[in-house]
Amino acid sequence: MKKTILITWWTGYIWSHSIVAFQQAGYKTVIVDNLCNSSVDTLDWIEKIIGYKPDFYNVDLRDKNALEEVFKKYDFDWVIHFAGLKAVWESCEKPLEYFDNNIVWSLKLFEVMEDFWVKNIIFSSSATVYDSSNFWKWEGANEKWITWNTTNPYWTTKFILEQILIDLSKFSDFNVMNLRYFNPIWAHESWFLWEDPEWIPNNLMPFIMKVAKWTLDELKVFWNDYDTIDGTWVRDYIDVVDLIDWHLKAYENISLLSQPFPPREKGVKGIFRIYNLWVGKWVSVLEMIRKTEEIIWKKINYKIVDRRDWDLAEVYCNPEKAKKELWWKTQISLDESIKNSWRFYNK
Ligand code: NAD
Ligand code: UFG
Repeated sequence: MKKTILITWWTGYIWSHSIVAFQQAGYKTVIVDNLCNSSVDTLDWIEKIIGYKPDFYNVDLRDKNALEEVFKKYDFDWVIHFAGLKAVWESCEKPLEYFDNNIVWSLKLFEVMEDFWVKNIIFSSSATVYDSSNFWKWEGANEKWITWNTTNPYWTTKFILEQILIDLSKFSDFNVMNLRYFNPIWAHESWFLWEDPEWIPNNLMPFIMKVAKWTLDELKVFWNDYDTIDGTWVRDYIDVVDLIDWHLKAYENISLLSQPFPPREKGVKGIFRIYNLWVGKWVSVLEMIRKTEEIIWKKINYKIVDRRDWDLAEVYCNPEKAKKELWWKTQISLDESIKNSWRFYNK
């Protein structure tokens, strides 16, 4: 029998890709979403890729009864949970809304999971949980590094949810695969799934693409006197298809570990695994602009504007653990990601 996986908050950029990847790998996926910030049309695009529509329920996670009805219908093996709101600037303006949306609603889900004894979860965390006051460039933060000192409410929600999941694994048998990464980019090779917000994008890549297409006039680069290669911020960009491929591999890895009678540490009931999914190729904002100009042969208008106080100039992580235990290796280069993004924007 096919293993069944519940995916929460699915129609967003990253996670619509994950449905395709998991379905294509032979798993059945069931989706819950309240469509507060996304469209049911994504189901049609997914159908174009995999040939059918996955089971979908319009459920608000605050509605515990509705969630329970879904859990009654299926024998879920795992839940893949992606907390909903992710705009850093917005979280600074509405911190309580972010805490409510990303933390309180998640607790409802965990309660239902516990009631139905579905205690396996993959959580999409972020490299920003690491202590941001002191990034070590050459070694990079490894998974044992201290996590605290977040600089904005969105990142705090990731930190707090990680702590909750650690305790659920210690005291309530949850098996948790906690994946930390930074900047996913590009679209699915079918060009049916992509990152193309209708409103002004928050993220760099869709912004650059919209400037290149003249949908937006210019990119604002948030300051240029940081202690980095050219003064602009440095990030690690990962192709979304690679990223989801590794969610699948991570799932298969922990799924094996959590079979009946797994070896477990004394006093710890569930398994809690953390991995940095880190490409290790650091690119500054100006380098990204230049690279894109070279690849797509278009000028990207930009202007240097004021810094954003709450953000980080650079982040460096160490992917050795994922390499060793999951055989982590990315396939798609940054050049290809940029090329494919541009092909999508021109289709
Ligand atoms: P996205 O904004 O494209 O998708 C999020 C989806 O969640 C949207 O479709 C929205 O409608 C839905 N949603 C929001 N609140 C909801 C709620 N309360 N109930 C039901 N649905 C709700 O985001 P994404 O880029 O696909 O990211 C998904 C996850 O990955 C988030 O947890 C994000 O924090 C994490 N993440 C993203 C990045 C990134 O740079 N994109 C990096 C690291 C981690
Ligand atoms: N940038 C600009 N101008 C813009 C947009 C971005 O200069 O208009 C710069 C930023 O300063 C940053 C880089 O481009 O240096 C990347 O910015 P993104 O907004 O694409 O991504 P962030 O690194 O700020 O944050 C992303 C997600 C967050 C998530 C974080 C780590 O947007 O939700 O990765 O998980 F928390």
